[in-house]
Amino acid sequence: MPGTCVIGLQWGDEAKGKIVDLLTQQQDVVVRYQANAGHTVVVGEDIYKLSLLPSGVLTSGVTCVIAGGVVLNPVKVIEELDELASRGVEDSDNLLISDRVHVIFPWHFAEDKALDQNTSDGENIGTTQRGIGPCYRDKVGRAYAVRLGDLYRDTFRDQVRHNVEAKNAVLASMVPNGEFKPLDAEAICDQYLAYAERLKPYVADTTEYLLSAAEAGKRILFEGAQGALLDVDHGTYPFVTSSNSSGVGVSNGSGVPARYINKVIGIVKAYTTRVGGGPFPVEQDNEIGQLIRDQGNEYGTVTKRPRRCGWLDTVAVRYTSRLSGVDSICVMLLDVLSGVGDLKICTSYKIDGKETQQFPSHTDDLRRVEPVYETLPGWDEDITQATSLEDLPANARAYMNRISELVGVPLEFVSVGPARSQTIQVNSE
Ligand code: GDP
Ligand code: IMO
Ligand code: MG
Repeated sequence: MPGTCVIGLQWGDEAKGKIVDLLTQQQDVVVRYQANAGHTVVVGEDIYKLSLLPSGVLTSGVTCVIAGGVVLNPVKVIEELDELASRGVEDSDNLLISDRVHVIFPWHFAEDKALDQNTSDGENIGTTQRGIGPCYRDKVGRAYAVRLGDLYRDTFRDQVRHNVEAKNAVLASMVPNGEFKPLDAEAICDQYLAYAERLKPYVADTTEYLLSAAEAGKRILFEGAQGALLDVDHGTYPFVTSSNSSGVGVSNGSGVPARYINKVIGIVKAYTTRVGGGPFPVEQDNEIGQLIRDQGNEYGTVTKRPRRCGWLDTVAVRYTSRLSGVDSICVMLLDVLSGVGDLKICTSYKIDGKETQQFPSHTDDLRRVEPVYETLPGWDEDITQATSLEDLPANARAYMNRISELVGVPLEFVSVGPARSQTIQVNSE
């Protein structure tokens, strides 16, 4: 069975891009199957930031697939292709984009901006404002959705006119008086038809392609975006994204049934970060959080927003690891904790005076939990040059081993810096 998945087990930005890039060396196909992301891959001196293209695009000879579960901003994918070409990346043309992906249009951006202010409990979701939620909403709503394959049909202009008429009416009621500029259907059609022409060589029925690849025993890597706690069904709803970002989303987003997936790798940052609103029990809105933010450069890859920082939460990670069927974990950014002092790990929650290891299903309860911590001694050494477990201070080894023990899953890699070479393979200790 040829399938491997890489899934973020927190609220995103666990450094999935780095691990996908590393594992791509042994793959035939790399697949993105939901939402947009901001993944960073460092190759030598070069830093690449990818929102839509699979991180496998930097390895030659690998086919990269954007599968049907993704919502696609065509401008973004064209920009990423152009940038890679200008930087001399070979084989970025080795790409297939599903004709089933739903396309993000200007009305989705406008809706994302207008709606994001208005959650019922007064806290802002703090979306990336890239039209993700509104596009997924239209996909499920069906009447106003446009898939990439529609751009190549004679009916496309009529479809856009139908949508723009309805969206102009909706947006006029959402956007404050005087700030609303009605959308122009014909201009949007011209613009999107030019994008369609540019993307034409890549457009394919990727469900069929992936099924055939899986049946032929090709090695397929599924690159999860965001993190499992942002999963629309199983995450910290409503402070989530609009797709299934945990392991349960792989099959529905890609069209490849679970029987072809034989390994799930969970990516865990050595501490926790969160961007946007929502409960975050282990958050350190204090000098410890600021120290971690500074040492980890914890600012959004795409939106540049400062990430909220806190201690590692193994109640949450154990939950998402079970939810995603994780076989092994990678502990990332361990180097960031050098010099932080004693390190705390949340091992259970206290709610209404009772201790529990269960992750609450309702955000009201998650807001009320009191984290119960275990404290481990830290280390001061710079560990960014470590190439084996023996190079790590005993306290760093004890910290990562304790994470594995608490999550209940063995370690596969430990990462001590952004570069490919700053990765230690863990066999067993
Ligand atoms: P992703 O969205 O999960 O791929 O993660 P991001 O790219 O948004 O954020 C991870 C950041 O950490 C990127 O800037 C990476 O280059 C960087 N990074 C990856 N691994 C390590 C590591 O072990 N140590 C440090 N210091 N940085 C890392
Ligand atoms: P990667 O793949 C961190 C968060 C947003 C917001 C919520 C919903 O780089 O780890 P959306 O725009 O999807 O409707 O936003 O989800 N979010 C992320 N946070 N990393 C990401 O991606 C994220 N993608 C979305 O901040 O709280
Ligand atoms: Mg990211």
